[in-house]
Amino acid sequence: MKLAILTSGGDSSGMNAAIKKFVEYSYEKGYEPYFIYDGLEGLIDGKIKKATHKDVGGIIYRGGTIIRSSRSKRWFDKEYRKKAYENLKEHNIDLLIILGGDGSFRALDVFYKEFKIPFMGIPASIDNDLALNEYMIGVDTALNVIRCAIDDIRDTASSFNRAFVIETMGRECGYLALTSAVANGAEMCLIPEMPYNLENLKKRYLKEIKEGRSYFLAIVAEGLKITNKIKEWFEKEIGFESRATILGHIQRGGSPTVLERLRAAEFVEVAMDNFEKTPNKIVTFYQEKFILRDLDEIVNSKYSLDERMLKLAKPLMGIN
Ligand code: F6P
Repeated sequence: MKLAILTSGGDSSGMNAAIKKFVEYSYEKGYEPYFIYDGLEGLIDGKIKKATHKDVGGIIYRGGTIIRSSRSKRWFDKEYRKKAYENLKEHNIDLLIILGGDGSFRALDVFYKEFKIPFMGIPASIDNDLALNEYMIGVDTALNVIRCAIDDIRDTASSFNRAFVIETMGRECGYLALTSAVANGAEMCLIPEMPYNLENLKKRYLKEIKEGRSYFLAIVAEGLKITNKIKEWFEKEIGFESRATILGHIQRGGSPTVLERLRAAEFVEVAMDNFEKTPNKIVTFYQEKFILRDLDEIVNSKYSLDERMLKLAKPLMGIN
C-alpha cells in the first residue's frame, strides 16, 4: 500500500519527528511512504515523491517541517481540489496522512466529502486549539520557547521599575498565554476566552507596589489585539514605565522537546496501526490516551480550555 504524508498550516516543532517515524514505520510494516511537499499547495501541484530512509536521517532534532507547509488559498476552489485528487490517483496513494490544525482539518473535511480519499489526521499546531483533544504536536516546544523568553525578559524587567507586556501567539485561542502565565508566575493573563477586570487588577497592583513590588510581567494573547493598550494602561493607571514584547514566530521554532518527539512518534504509530481497520479518523490525545475520532465530530465541536488551569489564572485576570 502507498501512504502519503503532508504538513499543513503553521509548522510546529515535532513535525519532523513525526515524518521520520512515518517513513521508518512504513518500511517496517511493508508500506510505501510518499512525501507531499508544500502542504495542500503541493498536493494541488502534484509535488509527490517517494520517501526514503535517507530523507529522514538527522531530522528528529530540527524544528519546522522538512516537507514544508503552506496556507492554500487555491484549496477553496473546487477545481484545484479536483487536481489534488487526480494527483493522488495518479500516484495510486491509498492513504493520506495530514499533520495540521483546525483549519487543515476543515480543508480535509471538504476534500473527503467530495472525493472520499482515505485519510488519517494528526493534530499539530502550537495553538493547541483542536476540539476534543488536549495536545497538539508543537505546543510543548512553543511553551518552552515562551518560558525562556519570559525568563530573559524578567532579567531586564527586574533591573528597572518596569512593566513588560508579552504577547503570545495562538490566534483566537488563549492556551499559550494561559499556560505560560501560570507556569511563569506572571502578574497578568489576558485571553480571548475569559473576561478580565482591570480595576481589580489595579487595586491589587497598587497595594503590591506599596509592599515593594518593583516590576510586572503581563501575558496577553494575540487574539485580543490589546497588547499596546495594556502597555499604555500600565503607564497611565499604574504609573510604571512599560514595554511591549511581541514574541512572534520564535514561538514556532526550536528543537522539539523530548515530550514532543515521543508523542509525535506515537501519533504516527497509532494512525498507521489503525487506518486499515478504522480509516478516516483524527488521532486525538485526550486524558492521557490516544482516541480515534470522526472528522465531523472534530470540525463541529469547539475546543475549550482546561477548567483547572483557568481557575489558577483567574486572579491574573482580576476576576474570581
Ligand atoms: O496557527 C499557528 C500560528 O502561529 C498562530 O499562532 C498565528 O496567529 C499564525 O499561525 C501566524 O500565521 P503566519 O505564520 O501565517 O503569519
